[in-house]
Amino acid sequence: LFADRLPVSSPPPTAAALTQDDLKRIAAHRAVDLVESGMVLGLGTGSTAAHALDRLGDLLRRGVLRDIVGIPTSLKTAAHAAAVGIPLSDLDAHPVVDLSIDGADEVDPALNLVKGRGGSLLREKMIEGASRRFVVIVDESKLVPCLGGSGLAVPVEVVPFCWKYTLGQLERLFDNDPGFNAKLRTFSDKEGVEMPFVTDNSNYIIDLYFERGISGDLDAVSDSMLRFPGVVEHGMFLGMATSVIVAGKNGVTFMEK
Ligand code: 5RP
Repeated sequence: LFADRLPVSSPPPTAAALTQDDLKRIAAHRAVDLVESGMVLGLGTGSTAAHALDRLGDLLRRGVLRDIVGIPTSLKTAAHAAAVGIPLSDLDAHPVVDLSIDGADEVDPALNLVKGRGGSLLREKMIEGASRRFVVIVDESKLVPCLGGSGLAVPVEVVPFCWKYTLGQLERLFDNDPGFNAKLRTFSDKEGVEMPFVTDNSNYIIDLYFERGISGDLDAVSDSMLRFPGVVEHGMFLGMATSVIVAGKNGVTFMEK
């Protein structure tokens, strides 16, 4: 069916030799198989989505795809997409997106996601929320029984103004969970000084950690966080993914809503 999309490179490695990056590439390429000429595409952010950008660029260069418009979910993705020749636009010009393709940090059995460990959750949520289809591409390590269950961060984008106050509000929200912990995302600058990580929207990120995952009603947790005025958005993407493509050592699985 997609003979014209076959890669021109060497044959794929055997299943046993597949790296995590190979799995990410496989999932990304399966998602790009869903792209048709003329589509408006949401372009995700992260190492998995980057494979989709490369693939799209390749198909555009070879004339297999035409008239694609990409809406990038971050400045980094915009630069990458431009470098591989994907024409770019935004939600103002294209308020309805045909298909978004993006990675995720966690996927639960109901296709709820944690996103934003790359820090791009706000633009991702806006663009993917405006999409008719939102296809998530992951390697099998991203599957979790419940959100927050990997022990890694659930990011929350906050305004820099009085961020410690907002951190305190988030701590109080989860103070009945003894395994809960929250901290400002930072990085070391060239002089080794700890600096706040700043998003593309000039905001900060507070990372939430749950030893045993987020318990209770996820929609209620989401509403509670969004009621804090200092919270801009959080990285729980509830009910947004229309399908998830999971690449594992034993093959590719499609999870549908
Ligand atoms: C960035 C994201 C990414 O999609 C998520 O972090 C997954 O990244 P990767 O594909 O590198 O594992 O949400 O904000």
